[in-house]
Amino acid sequence: MSNPASPLAVDVLDERPGLTFPPGFLWGAATAAYQIEGAAAEDGRTPSIWDTFSHTDGRIVAGHTGDVACDHYHRLGGDVALMAELGLKSYRFSVSWSRVQPGGTGAANPQGLDFYRRLVDDLLANGIEPWLTLYHWDLPQPLEDAGGWPARDTAARFADYTTLVADALGDRVRYWTTLNEPWCSAFLGYGSGVHAPGRTNGADAVRAGHHLMLGHGLSVQALRAARPTAEVGVTVNLYPVDPASDAPADVDAARRIDGLANRFFLDPLLRGSYPEDLVADLSVVTDFDHVHDGDLATISAPLDLVGINYYSRHVVAAPTGGNEAASAPSCWPGSEDVRFVTRGVPVTDMGWEIDAPGLLETLRRVHDYTDLPLYVTENGSAFVDTVVDGQVDDVDRLAYFDAHLRATHEAIDAGVPLRGYFAWSLMDNFEWAWGYTKRFGMIHVDYDSQVRIPKSSAKWYASVIRRNGLAAQ
Ligand code: FCB
Repeated sequence: MSNPASPLAVDVLDERPGLTFPPGFLWGAATAAYQIEGAAAEDGRTPSIWDTFSHTDGRIVAGHTGDVACDHYHRLGGDVALMAELGLKSYRFSVSWSRVQPGGTGAANPQGLDFYRRLVDDLLANGIEPWLTLYHWDLPQPLEDAGGWPARDTAARFADYTTLVADALGDRVRYWTTLNEPWCSAFLGYGSGVHAPGRTNGADAVRAGHHLMLGHGLSVQALRAARPTAEVGVTVNLYPVDPASDAPADVDAARRIDGLANRFFLDPLLRGSYPEDLVADLSVVTDFDHVHDGDLATISAPLDLVGINYYSRHVVAAPTGGNEAASAPSCWPGSEDVRFVTRGVPVTDMGWEIDAPGLLETLRRVHDYTDLPLYVTENGSAFVDTVVDGQVDDVDRLAYFDAHLRATHEAIDAGVPLRGYFAWSLMDNFEWAWGYTKRFGMIHVDYDSQVRIPKSSAKWYASVIRRNGLAAQ
C-alpha cells in the first residue's frame, strides 16, 4: 500500500518522460542463499554463521531464522517460472558454501552442487543468464570456530571452495562475483556485531575486511585457473557520504566515514593500496600488521566488472563530545563518535533515506576509479505491503525503482559503462537481523502458505524489461 506521506506519489511518476536503455542491458533481480533457500539441514548442508546467529536468543527480530525462509530449495521450478514470467534477462543468486562444501573444508557435497546445477540449467532453459555470487555472508561455522575472517587462513579456504564451485558450474555460468558487500561481513559481523558472527572488536573487523579482500583475490585466481572465459568481479556496497555542514570538523567526519565505508574497499581492489588517511584514522585500532607483502597485488588482480549495491546516502557530523555511541560496539572503528544525521527526507521501512541522485553520484565515482563495465547488483527498498483482494499495490517501491533507474540512465548518458541492473529483491525474504519483518521483494511471499504474489512493482518491472526502458507516462 502507498504511504500517503511519500512525495514519490504516482502522480509525480506519471509526468516523467520515457527513457530507453542500451541494447543488451542486463535486467535482473537478486537474492541470496540464506535469505531464501531454507532446507537448512537437508541433503548434507551444515550450519553457517547465520544459522548459529539466528538460533541465538536476541539476535534476530522475533527470533526468526532462515530454516525455511522462502522454501526456495523445494520450489526452485516455480520460482524460475516466475522469473521467466517477469522476463528477467539475468538472475543473481548466491551459493551456500556449507551446502556445497559442508564444514568449509574438504570434498564437495554432490547433492549440494546438484541443487545449483538444477537451478542454473533451469535458468538457462528459460533464457535467463545465471549470475553467481560465491559469498553472501554465510561462512561455514567450523571456519568461524577456527577464527573466522579475522584469521588469514579463511581467505585460502575461500579459494578452495571457489575451485569446487567453478569446476562444477563453470561450464554453464558466465558471470561470477566473489564477495557480496565485504563491508557488511567485516564491520557488521565483527565490529558492531549486529550481523553474524556477532563479534565486536574493531581490530578484528579491520582484519576481516582485509582477509575478505585477500580471499576475493585468491578466488579470482582460482576462477581464472578453472574457467579462463568467466566474467569475474566483486560486489561492494557504497554510499555517498556528505558532511552535515561546511564546518571543517563535519567535513573531516565525512572523510573518515567515506574512508571506512567506501575507500577501505575501492582503493585496495581497484588501486592496490589502502588510503593513507584511513590507515592513520585506524591507527588507534590496528597497525595493519595483518597486511603481508604481496597481498595488495593479489587483491587488485584485474577484474572484468564491478558490482555496486546502492541503497542510500550517509550524512554525518563531527562528534559533540560525551557521545555514548562512542563506547558501544561500532561498525566505524576509530570513528565511533561520528554522528549520523537525518535530513528529514522520505525514508523506506528500514529508515534509509531515499536518495536516487546518490546512485548517479556513486556510479560516476566508481567510474573515476576504473573503466571496467559496472553493474548495479542490488538496489531496492523495504515498505510495508498489504495484500488486498490477492493484490499488492506497492506504489512506493515502484516509485523507488523508477527514480533509481532514471539515475542509472543519467549515469549512462554521462558516459558510465553501466551494463545491467539487478532489483533487490526478486521476492520477500529473510532480511538478516530484521528477520521476515522487512519486505524488499517484487514478489510477495506469504511465509505460512509460501504463496507468491507478484506485486505492482513486479508487473511494472516486467514492462520495463519488455521495452528495455521506462515508458513515458
Ligand atoms: C544488502 C544485502 C542484501 C539485502 C539488502 C537489503 O546489504 O546484500 O542481502 O539484505 O541489503
